[in-house]
Amino acid sequence: MARLSPEVSSLRDEIVALRRDLHRHPELAWSERRTAARIAAFLEGSGLALRTGLGGTGLLAEARGEDGPTLLLRVDMDALPIAEASGASYASAVEGTMHACGHDGHVAMGAAAARALAGRRGPGTVRLLFQPAEEGEGGAQAMVAAGVMDGVSAVVGVHLWNELPVGTLGVKAGPLMAAVDRLRIVVRGRGGHGGAPHRSADPVVAAAHVITALQAIVSREVPPTQAAVVTVGSVHGGAAFNVIPDEVTLTGTVRTFDASLRRSMPERLSRMATGIAEGLGCRAEVEVRPGNPAVVNDAAVADRARRAAARVVGEDGLVEPEPTMGGEDMAVYFERAPGCFVFVGSANPARGLDQPHHSPRFDFDEEALLVGTQFLVEVAGEMLA
Ligand code: NI
Repeated sequence: MARLSPEVSSLRDEIVALRRDLHRHPELAWSERRTAARIAAFLEGSGLALRTGLGGTGLLAEARGEDGPTLLLRVDMDALPIAEASGASYASAVEGTMHACGHDGHVAMGAAAARALAGRRGPGTVRLLFQPAEEGEGGAQAMVAAGVMDGVSAVVGVHLWNELPVGTLGVKAGPLMAAVDRLRIVVRGRGGHGGAPHRSADPVVAAAHVITALQAIVSREVPPTQAAVVTVGSVHGGAAFNVIPDEVTLTGTVRTFDASLRRSMPERLSRMATGIAEGLGCRAEVEVRPGNPAVVNDAAVADRARRAAARVVGEDGLVEPEPTMGGEDMAVYFERAPGCFVFVGSANPARGLDQPHHSPRFDFDEEALLVGTQFLVEVAGEMLA
């Protein structure tokens, strides 16, 4: 099992209590007021320099040492609009809102690590960032705008991870999580009577062909050794069974790791959709809205994170995780400084704690909180040594 320092061990009950309290009181993106107040209360009297209200609800706790580099440790704190069905005694008391991604645990780990690091001596500054609104709501961008990256030389973040067993830490150099861009296609035709298709230009048939043809971008254009996903997640058009509508709207998500492949996707999607639609007498308007870039871990920072992780879970507990096509706004910080995003194994199938993230039945083994806290403490020491 994990090697915990006496300092972190002594925080065990408080870490679990904080996590469960936050789990009962989840708050959606940009409304994490109670959460931020709980963190501030948890850190009161620790001697850390606090900045609150960043971008509205963000919070920064700084442990200043002697002259030296500044390390940013980042955790996120928002919940999801999901009705909880975990059955846990500490289940959400807020209808339709749930910590289904583990951000409650991230806050607990970050707050405990901040306490443990408060008294540290030696060179450099550790800055613990509690970021709001990770779930697609621009939290990271707002934190950067608030200046959290000023003077920062490296960034490390953690995410509880139910794809890995509790007692492990997942560290990988290079691409870890995908860039996530948003796709919207409007196929316009000419509506008419369902019994007289020859007098209309049917956007439903055109949209159907567009959906199918988009998959050929991934299967026929993207190099087979590179990863990409095009998913059409919604199709809207028409209102009656016997009427051909004027237009059909498709929305979807486009995911890639490689930056140049990512840049090429709007042109590919546009060419395919407009070409197919035109062939069927319709027109297609294609919009690709850029989201977060890919999370690509810096090799040197990953190396140090690996060393810190091995001290906590041993070489046996250190794993190289599979990259995922899920996205994370951690990538936004990596545009400003090299960094590493680390997965904290949190699954315990024997106890039924292995549901996927964002599931209404999501929960994790709380022992992972101790592992994650200890890792944050160790990585600070490693990065600032
Ligand atoms: Ni998450």
